[in-house]
Amino acid sequence: GRPLDLTGRKVVISAGGTREAIDPVRYIGNRSSGLQGYALARTAAARGAEVTLVAANVALSDPAGAKVVRVESAAEMREAVLSAAADADVVVMAAAVADFRPATRHDTKIKKTDGEPEPIFLTKNPDILAELGTLRRDARTAQVRSGDGTPPLPPSPSLPPEPASLGVATPQSPPSGVTSPEPGDSRPGGGGLEVASRRGLRAYPEVIVGFAAETDDVLANGQAKLARKGCDLLVVNQVGEGLAFGTPDNAATVLVAGGEPVEVPFGPKEDVADAVWDLVAARLS
Ligand code: C5P
Repeated sequence: GRPLDLTGRKVVISAGGTREAIDPVRYIGNRSSGLQGYALARTAAARGAEVTLVAANVALSDPAGAKVVRVESAAEMREAVLSAAADADVVVMAAAVADFRPATRHDTKIKKTDGEPEPIFLTKNPDILAELGTLRRDARTAQVRSGDGTPPLPPSPSLPPEPASLGVATPQSPPSGVTSPEPGDSRPGGGGLEVASRRGLRAYPEVIVGFAAETDDVLANGQAKLARKGCDLLVVNQVGEGLAFGTPDNAATVLVAGGEPVEVPFGPKEDVADAVWDLVAARLS
């Protein structure tokens, strides 16, 4: 059996792959099946967690014990993840989020004409994972400034000093419920994030986990991505040769901010999920 080491913890998991509409019938998508995210949701629930699963375009039945929020596009995923993240202990971004979307969405189906087709121009999507890291860092900085008692948690060692990596313009304003806490939120006698979390008022997740599919220089690219995105763990899949997309099995390396990488040998995606939860549970205070 599994340990019940996530009992009482709120975890948010994204799964599947986003679709970015071109017109009412066409989209740009990817091959993510959602199997890894669903394995994470099942195993987290089995370990006692309260699970919100943000699922993009998966053909899988709802895992027992998880609240499932279905989304289609990266923008919808961002809204769902950020609002659920505001009172979560852990966020795991296992979804394949489109980096780009068509700059304009046609209201009607694009017609076939005799001439050459019109080009489709792309624009950047917000990077949800990097945004979570930045929101958390800003919340921690605000907590330091408000000087509300005991010293705050140190910033994650993987965080760069400046949001230089956030090279993504976010046209939308943040959804309600995810803005930085008002200064008035820190009550006298409070104790920073730790007490805030005991009160159930912590603004951002204590542990943030990303996924990355890399084809080359897996460790070097993964370490750079871990730092750039400001996450605590980064699960790196080597793609190709029957691994990762659409298969029930996977092999991965979990990179750990300020720690040694953990290798998960080829096996069911539950094995990768349990290795992630072992590391997450160890980092939760
Ligand atoms: O930069 P890259 O796409 O390789 O990063 C992958 C990780 O970042 C995954 O955890 C994915 O869910 C997340 N991501 C995101 N928003 C994006 C692109 C990726 O949250 N727009």
